[in-house]
Amino acid sequence: MKRLMLFAALSAVLVAAGCQNQQTSQNQDTNENKTVDKQTENQQAEQSQQEEDTAAEEQTAETKPDQHQDEAEDVVGSIEKPVTVDNPDSIEVVVNKTRKFPDGWQPKDLVEPDVPFYFSEHLEKRKMRKEAAEALEDLFAASQKDGMELVAASGYRSEERQKEIYENNVATQGQEETDKVSSRPGRSEHQTGLAIDLTSAEMALALEETFIDTDEGKWLAEHAHEYGYIIRYPEGKSDITGYSYEPWHIRYVGKDLAKQIYEENTTLEEHFQMESDLKS
Ligand code: DAL
Ligand code: ZN
Repeated sequence: MKRLMLFAALSAVLVAAGCQNQQTSQNQDTNENKTVDKQTENQQAEQSQQEEDTAAEEQTAETKPDQHQDEAEDVVGSIEKPVTVDNPDSIEVVVNKTRKFPDGWQPKDLVEPDVPFYFSEHLEKRKMRKEAAEALEDLFAASQKDGMELVAASGYRSEERQKEIYENNVATQGQEETDKVSSRPGRSEHQTGLAIDLTSAEMALALEETFIDTDEGKWLAEHAHEYGYIIRYPEGKSDITGYSYEPWHIRYVGKDLAKQIYEENTTLEEHFQMESDLKS
């Protein structure tokens, strides 16, 4: 029932927002930092088919914070020569502009979390790693109890899908702008299966900084850590994370680490003391 009401609300927003042409809507998904689809179900289905066609698409007080990181945890590559992480399966893995996945790596335990997405199809981006998916379900249940209407937009992404997104963004915005908001293939947190973008009907499903001004955005910033998630790209930390503020992008790291990072007001890079040159 709740779900039906949500979709009814979303439909109203979608109608109010107006439909976009096919070209724009295709770009929207590839341009994940901007706006997610504002299409009708039919158009979404059409796009989904096209996507499927084109897209192949984190301790305890006793342990050291970086114990689960790479052996040489302070080894950080450069933007041009990223190091390959050796713990891609760890829920504490740090992937960023200077730390990439082994080529073609993908998570083994992807599942579909039972939370409302803005699309109805079973696309790759609906998936998350099992532990993160279960934590996301808990997060959504708690948010709904508090009257929030969060909507999931984009979870797991393969290296191939990220390549399409990155290249599309470079073609439309240029490399400099793209590198502020979009990861190069093999370096996106979405490939971990531990990250997901969330939005709301109030945002007309957009992924924009103003999300933090909404009740849902504020709730997420305040409560995500209780479910093992962090706001991965916080405001004012672009020089450290390498990316612009993204109040919509949450990353599962487990409850202990999420709580520490929330209380420290740090990032993964700061918490694990990874000195690096992350600016593009
Ligand atoms: N927008 C985030 C940084 C990504 O592309 O993975
Ligand atoms: Zn994201």
